[in-house]
Amino acid sequence: MLFMHLKLKVFRYNPETGERKYDYFEVPYEEGMTFLRAFQKIKEEIDPSFSFRAFCRAGICGTCTVFIDGFPKLACKEQTLPYVLSEQIVTVEPLDKFEVIRDLVVDNEEVINRMKKFRTWIKEYQGEVRIPPEVNKKIEKGADCILCSACQSYCPQVLEEEYAGPLFFAKIYRFLEDPREEDKEFRIKEALEGHLYHCLSCNKCNNACPKEVEPATLIRELMLVKSEIS
Ligand code: SF4
Ligand code: SF4
Ligand code: FES
Repeated sequence: MLFMHLKLKVFRYNPETGERKYDYFEVPYEEGMTFLRAFQKIKEEIDPSFSFRAFCRAGICGTCTVFIDGFPKLACKEQTLPYVLSEQIVTVEPLDKFEVIRDLVVDNEEVINRMKKFRTWIKEYQGEVRIPPEVNKKIEKGADCILCSACQSYCPQVLEEEYAGPLFFAKIYRFLEDPREEDKEFRIKEALEGHLYHCLSCNKCNNACPKEVEPATLIRELMLVKSEIS
């Protein structure tokens, strides 16, 4: 255990010089070390300029998502031990399809703008509402979304500018089925404006989601509701 190392090939971007490169780091393994802990050790002990984003360290805030060997993962949840034992060099990169600000930090502006555009909240609601278990079952997956963008970064259709993306379709479905949402037509209109039917049903977003929201499954549910309404 004492002499095991995590071998990392990490993407670096310096906005001051415009340089893009990969740096190699060997991080001594410590018990229970996640990728986020490894990033912190690099910053504290090897290179203080190394930049990444994290907050809760508990898989809740959705800020630490990075690509690990080409697959989106929450750095604070992903254990390093299997990679250490395999002795492979692990490639760590910022989220795909996002503009890089520095090293592993990406620009979330587009996601925030889309959250406003698709009104990812319930309009003012007066009074009390009881949500039956069968309705709760429909909305709980979408409500579990932590906005980590893993699905957005892994969805091939997100390259299409007007395509809303799995994160937003999961949210639209969640609000469509919420009894407090009075304007169901509005939610369907949102889905169509986001090019709902351009989804390839490839399930990549289902595989990428760390919270088992299953956006692709919710997209298919959204299409079913749309066909029942119209
Ligand atoms: S199922 Fe649809 S939303 Fe999900 S990754 Fe594939 S194209 Fe994107
Ligand atoms: S649906 Fe899943 S992968 Fe997509 S943003 Fe929400 S939690 Fe992340
Ligand atoms: S730091 Fe919050 S989800 Fe990883």
